[in-house]
Amino acid sequence: MVKICCIGAGYVGGPTMAVIAFKCPAIEVAVVDISFARITAWNSDQLPIYEPGLEDIVKQCRGKNLFFSTEVEKHVSEADIIFVSVNTPTKTRGLGAGKAADLTYWESAARMIADVSKNDKIVVEKSTVPVKTAEAIEKILTHNSNGIKYQILSNPEFLAEGTAIQDLFNPDRILIGGRETPGGQKAIQALKEVYAHWVPEDRIICTNLWSAELSKLAANAFLAQRISSVNAMSALCEATGADVTQVSHAVGKDTRVGSKFLNASVGFGGSCFQKDILSLVYICECNGLKEVANYWKQVIQVNDYQKNRFVNRVVSSMFNTVSGKKIAILGFAFKKDTGDTRETPAIDVCKGLLGDNANLSIYDPQVTEDQIRKDLSMKKFDWDNPIHLQPMSPTVMKQLNVVWDAYAATKGAHGLCLLTEWDEFKTLDFKKIYDNMQKPAFVFDGRNIVDEQKLREIGFIVYSIGKPLDGWLKDMPAVA
Ligand code: UDX
Ligand code: ADP
Repeated sequence: MVKICCIGAGYVGGPTMAVIAFKCPAIEVAVVDISFARITAWNSDQLPIYEPGLEDIVKQCRGKNLFFSTEVEKHVSEADIIFVSVNTPTKTRGLGAGKAADLTYWESAARMIADVSKNDKIVVEKSTVPVKTAEAIEKILTHNSNGIKYQILSNPEFLAEGTAIQDLFNPDRILIGGRETPGGQKAIQALKEVYAHWVPEDRIICTNLWSAELSKLAANAFLAQRISSVNAMSALCEATGADVTQVSHAVGKDTRVGSKFLNASVGFGGSCFQKDILSLVYICECNGLKEVANYWKQVIQVNDYQKNRFVNRVVSSMFNTVSGKKIAILGFAFKKDTGDTRETPAIDVCKGLLGDNANLSIYDPQVTEDQIRKDLSMKKFDWDNPIHLQPMSPTVMKQLNVVWDAYAATKGAHGLCLLTEWDEFKTLDFKKIYDNMQKPAFVFDGRNIVDEQKLREIGFIVYSIGKPLDGWLKDMPAVA
């Protein structure tokens, strides 16, 4: 029986391994993590991450051919194929601070593999890593090999949160990069056979190591670039009276452009886009490609601009001050159908409003109060360290209130900001909300989910990203 071990039971490792176990009953899959709390949660009824369809799959396989364990060394030493899916935070100090990926956790995983291995292993990079990481890992392993042979593969994961199970069941492509040697090709074949249990062969792409590593960074950069492009257009739409949803519809109808990923928003979030672009920028700079680095940097700058612009719209509409005013924040996760808040635009928007002394009342159906308080007190990039290394005691913020209902959040508020496109926000009783708010009552829609005409009829002053402006907002300054 082939044995697979995955180091890192996070958003990538957990769902990916659950699907491999589900699709390959003859393979034993162990997911290991240094976080006792995370493993306990994976073994309980309350999984550590919220992902539609995941619970069902875990329940069907757990205890049969899917195991979650903190016995990292035991499972690594028994495995034939080891996936590594550990944290790769952006460095906060030293060389490359603010851009380069910190490979501390990767290096310690590699050294541990070398320490405990007794037979030949295939080591698979699953977490996104800078180009040439495989080479570094290979060096650590071969210099500590004790005669054991290692093959390194890069097999980046393209799943998106909220649709992870769907994406894993029916991937656009599986990418496997390996050495162009007989040993490398054999390893690629072994991993290919795992995916071939459910993925058609023509969707499994095999490349060299560096192409696979770079393709992952490039794919995320291209996706993020589309969002920054449409968000840049949204500012121009507001200035000219065009409607960004009409513009993106018209542009997306060109089959060469395509319609996906053209929704203007308050900004992109998530654990990958910013981090991967920063990593890409750093690699370009290290290779003397200043112009290329600047080109990609701009994608992040437009994203920051969009979040600032949103905060400025809120403050300037409300007589240039939100001090002491209650503002409801509906949605804190970085997108719908996930409880994940990593790099969520809500953090920057909330910090901006708190900076102007607003009183925030936050509601998100999947994010806990503890998480929100942690996020709002954490330093940039701290979120990407293993949980036990994250700051534990958030500073008390009196201006912050977390509630469990959209109606409670908006009661007595001067304005409401929609920051995540949760389906339940589309069917709220806005008349009831309006009646319970201060007047004038404002809606700032950061996801373009409300029917602004209907809301205006109720009496709201409405701002929707990239849509023709309400008369109220027309003369208000929007740029920082
Ligand atoms: C992304 C990639 O899609 C995935 O392939 C990769 O493996 C990991 O990074 P994820 O971060 O889970 O996945 O979510 P994604 O759906 O890409 O959304 C990222 C952010 O962009 C979210 O904040 C989302 O709200 C925002 N977004 C997305 C927009 O603002 N507009 C869009 O049109 C699409
Ligand atoms: P991703 O979104 O890429 O899956 P996560 O942060 O959700 O990232 O998961 C990474 C996991 O890796 C964390 O649960 C962390 O505890 C775990 N981890 C980090 N270093 C090690 C290590 N050396 N051994 C085992 N697990 C590790």
